[in-house]
Amino acid sequence: MAFLDIPGRWSASHAAAADPPIGPASLPYAKDALEPYISARTFEFHYGKHYQAYIDNTRKLISGTEYADLPLKEIIQKSGANPNQMAIFNNAAQSFNHEFFWKSMISGGGGAPTGRIGQAIDKSFGSHAQFEKEFTEAALTQFGSGWAWLIHDGAVLKVVKTANADTPMMHGWTPLLTLDVWEHAYYLDYQNRRGDYIRAYLDHLINWRFAESNLAG
Ligand SMILES: [Fe+2]
Repeated sequence: MAFLDIPGRWSASHAAAADPPIGPASLPYAKDALEPYISARTFEFHYGKHYQAYIDNTRKLISGTEYADLPLKEIIQKSGANPNQMAIFNNAAQSFNHEFFWKSMISGGGGAPTGRIGQAIDKSFGSHAQFEKEFTEAALTQFGSGWAWLIHDGAVLKVVKTANADTPMMHGWTPLLTLDVWEHAYYLDYQNRRGDYIRAYLDHLINWRFAESNLAG
């Protein structure tokens, strides 16, 4: 009961309750944890500015609307089905996609997966090398801004790409991993060399345990 004595506790709770239930997810590692493959400076802009703007815009756009108290996934599905709500969809889906991207990476990650996700990759693609080939092609050939994904379509794992803010849940797919291929994700570290960025993700950054947890879900 000690917390009852802390001044300001109740006013803080009320302030939180009045806000829309959308907020930035914490970066699951330090900003410099993925160096030299993704720099702290990239995270300062990508997480600190771009992602924060998607969160802020979502909160502004849903304030006082039918979306105000919905969880993020419902906001995405509902606004994505309404052509007049594209601004809400774009910002909400980008909020989701980015949080998923942060979790798709880990220091010391990448390489060939083991365990259940490793077996699923072999079963669906024939080999890890074939997965890498398809993922690289999808990430390289996404023209302009978008995302490369490893998804589960209900039967098998597949590699797909989506444009701009488009996201797997709008296609009935379960996302397992993603790579942001908007230029803002890699330009400070790789400039126009998107292929080197993709290679670094495959070799050093993929969080296979996160992919496996999504497969289980
Ligand atoms: Fe991004």
